[in-house]
Amino acid sequence: MPVLVIGASGFVGSALLDVFGAEAVGTYCERPRPGLRQLDMRDARAVAKLVSEIAPSWILIPAAQPHVDWCEEHESESRDVNVHGPAAVAGVAREMGARVLFFSTDYVFDGREGPYDESAKPAPINVYGKHKLEAEERLLDSNPRNLVVRICGVYGYERPPKNFVMTLIERLRAGEQVRVPSDQWGTPTYVRDIARAAKTLVERDAAGVWHVAGPDFLPRYDFARRVCAEFGLNEAQVYSVPSSRLGQRAKRPAYAGLRAHRAEAVGVSCRNVADGLKALAGEMAQEIAQRGTTVEKP
Ligand SMILES: NC(=O)c1ccc[n+]([C@@H]2O[C@H](COP(=O)([O-])OP(=O)(O)OC[C@H]3O[C@@H](n4cnc5c(N)ncnc54)[C@H](OP(=O)(O)O)[C@@H]3O)[C@@H](O)[C@H]2O)c1
Repeated sequence: MPVLVIGASGFVGSALLDVFGAEAVGTYCERPRPGLRQLDMRDARAVAKLVSEIAPSWILIPAAQPHVDWCEEHESESRDVNVHGPAAVAGVAREMGARVLFFSTDYVFDGREGPYDESAKPAPINVYGKHKLEAEERLLDSNPRNLVVRICGVYGYERPPKNFVMTLIERLRAGEQVRVPSDQWGTPTYVRDIARAAKTLVERDAAGVWHVAGPDFLPRYDFARRVCAEFGLNEAQVYSVPSSRLGQRAKRPAYAGLRAHRAEAVGVSCRNVADGLKALAGEMAQEIAQRGTTVEKP
């Protein structure tokens, strides 16, 4: 079953390529990666050309502009990528008989009473969340058999490091002091579990809105302490700070996070924080060992 992954140069997109393997064709937009095709998803003609060449049954869209503070200050650019992009893909997919899996976020909720299941009413409090919700609606209006997968607090191996856990490890190892919000709660999720869950949902022909998330609900600061414990880092370098003192441009939902009972009921589950961080430590050790081997080669 051929699958097109738009945004395969990104964090979640790379994990999707690994899991879907040979059946997947991936794209990048601005950061070329070997083996990937160039595509700007806002360009409907370019999307149609690639889709007619590959004839995918499913088009996966991890592609986005996910920088929440940047979106807050660049509303029209954010709408262009985060709404018009996926909407253009959905239009092409409908014409060509393909289904779309769109990745969304717990930031579609206001954070008053998370973690949220699929029956909760979205009420985004920042531009990024509003645009992701608008895109969800456009996707499902275009074809109710499309699939929206909301995810949250994704962590895992990534080079260069961009996700919370990888940047935290890097900064603490460099001796920095790191301020972490005490009042932003979420359900951290290991990136490889998200990719596996997406594959299972596609194989099961799932449609509509699904939540995929790890089972632990905790504030960022507690999560940071768990990272310190797993990776032997100095907890004293991590400072618990209320969001009001972080100077973030966009408001963050306080009690966000997702409950994934619907997915769990069909056997799709994600690791808890303890197991996810152990898996990440294993991946990092393997990467170091491989790099060592590469360096020693003549
Ligand atoms: N990471 C998280 O914690 C998290 C949490 C909740 C939800 N999400 C959602 O999960 C999805 C994946 O996030 P991520 O962390 O993997 O993001 P990411 O690493 O920043 O990757 C974004 C991807 O989108 C591509 N892209 C950007 N603009 C594009 C365009 N106009 N046309 C085609 N591709 C474009 C980028 O390509 P180039 O880099 O090559 O330009 C990159 O491959 C996003 O939808 C995000 O909203 C993520």
